[in-house]
Amino acid sequence: MARIEVFAPAKINLTLHVTGQRADGYHLLDSLVTFASVGDRLFIAVPANSLSLTVEGPESQGVPSDMRNLALRAAALVPFEGAALVLEKNLPSASGIGGGSADAAAAWRGMTYLKGDVFHWLADAPEPWLQAEMNNLLTLGADIPMCVHSSPMRVQGVGDKLIPVDLPSLPALLANPRLPVSTPSVFKALKLRDNPPMPAALPEFFDVGDLIDWLSVQRNDLQDAALCVEPGIAEVLSVLSALPGCRLARMSGSGATCFGLFETEEAAKAATYELHKIRPEWWKAGCLLGDQMRAAVPRDC
Ligand code: C5P
Repeated sequence: MARIEVFAPAKINLTLHVTGQRADGYHLLDSLVTFASVGDRLFIAVPANSLSLTVEGPESQGVPSDMRNLALRAAALVPFEGAALVLEKNLPSASGIGGGSADAAAAWRGMTYLKGDVFHWLADAPEPWLQAEMNNLLTLGADIPMCVHSSPMRVQGVGDKLIPVDLPSLPALLANPRLPVSTPSVFKALKLRDNPPMPAALPEFFDVGDLIDWLSVQRNDLQDAALCVEPGIAEVLSVLSALPGCRLARMSGSGATCFGLFETEEAAKAATYELHKIRPEWWKAGCLLGDQMRAAVPRDC
């Protein structure tokens, strides 16, 4: 009998530039992605008679526990007798922070860990094996391979080209007005423009202030399209921007979750408290954005 716990950190797009569109309709992206110290938690127990999933936790309402759930589909990709998965949903669904993708990535990490396939974790995994696994996961969702690593990276192509980057940890406040946004509808509303691309080479970021200054002149190209689909996002951006110490407010992914960035953890904590006073009904999380790879390694429990 073995039982493991796998952390599924939220994915945050610090920038998201749309650079083109493929013939099959999928968009080409150039995005700086990082991971939050808040996320879902997945528990896996083996042996079990079959592969099953139970969903619980504060954000579990409406989340399917059958094969529509990406975590179950990703777990099914790993050949194994049977496993009982319990997913604790802390992240709101359809909210631009990769909840479903993070869960799928956690299920894959957990199942491969139980199989003994992950060697000394991903850094030691043979490249052809890892690439084949990532290609399989990509067919389930464009964000899943990046969530497998859970560390800062520049993501290009349709989510298949992952370039690790070094970023300082950013004190942040995530806020979601509890308005679900469908990713396909945002991409449909997007008007492709000739926007300047992200610089080919990223500068070296010496501290949080440096990184925020640089991020301030980059964009999320899905933000305008998401505002058309869900005008309520405008209020999240303006409320976050007005919080004391907030240096930059931007939407993540296709929304509706937005993040505010702060120079210090104290400022982010004070802003979280302040936001809770004025918008108690919103989902929110004060957190650090950075490398969660270590936290995301499965552990016995
Ligand atoms: O891969 P995923 O299921 O997350 O994508 C959801 C939808 O978002 C796709 O069906 C597509 O309409 C759109 N999309 C896109 N280009 C991407 C990723 C997603 O157009 N790179």
